[in-house]
Amino acid sequence: MEEGFGAWYGEKQGETGDNWHRTLIDPGLFALLGELPRGTRVLDLGCGNGYLARRLAGRGARVVGVDLSDELIEAARARERAEPLGIDYHRASAAALPMLADGSFDAAFANMSLMDIAPAAAAVREVARLLRSGGRFVFSISHPCFDVDRRSSFVPEPGPGAPTVYRKVTAYRVPHSDLYDWPLPDGRTARTVGYHRPLSWYFRELRDAGFVVTGLGEPAPTDGFVSRRIAREWIEEIPLHLVLEARREPRTGRG
Ligand SMILES: C[S@@+](CC[C@H](N)C(=O)[O-])C[C@H]1O[C@@H](n2cnc3c(N)ncnc32)[C@H](O)[C@@H]1O
Repeated sequence: MEEGFGAWYGEKQGETGDNWHRTLIDPGLFALLGELPRGTRVLDLGCGNGYLARRLAGRGARVVGVDLSDELIEAARARERAEPLGIDYHRASAAALPMLADGSFDAAFANMSLMDIAPAAAAVREVARLLRSGGRFVFSISHPCFDVDRRSSFVPEPGPGAPTVYRKVTAYRVPHSDLYDWPLPDGRTARTVGYHRPLSWYFRELRDAGFVVTGLGEPAPTDGFVSRRIAREWIEEIPLHLVLEARREPRTGRG
């Protein structure tokens, strides 16, 4: 990740997440995550600036956040120093977290991060190692069927009345990556990589890591959702995000 991107992204997310997170993605994530009993041990994978880690810690969870970005982990730690909630942050790849013990979490979540993580299969296996038997992994991603990075778009087709809006998807089955350019406030452009994997990829990697899929949501916009590019009714019909819950099966002799 290029210098400056993490700082900008962390600012954009602020204390509550940007509009897309606040009014669309996070409510879907929390619908599956639910209210966690006080003291629940939670891992936030790809935690960004830690705003959701803070939300959960504020409700009594014991939270550990992990992110690969120095800038985002520094932003998260700065918030923790300013207003301590007992959150531990690690600057590390989600694929290798040897500093965290086997079975030491009751729940893990990854909010819009798995599709940004190159070694996502290894990250899923690492979450399986870190969760206790019966622990839950809840994550949100771009919807693999309808939001295929640069290879999908809404296409309004003019007609006699209101235009009919189609979702065009030109690639799905083969995992691939795409580059994204983000204009930064200082005029530079930061480049990130996104990884598309089909739905069957997620199911297979979860099952092979020892999970059973137990929940699935396709978040719809809630009050306050606004977008300059996309009309609310388009994503009320065609969801652009997917939230999935998987439960760690009891360990066998081989763990
Ligand atoms: C779209 S952001 C989401 C951040 C945060 N969950 C949020 O909702 O604001 C994706 C995050 O994944 C992190 N990331 C990318 N690759 C990673 C890896 N291998 N291990 C841990 N985090 C990674 C990025 O640094 C970034 O913070």
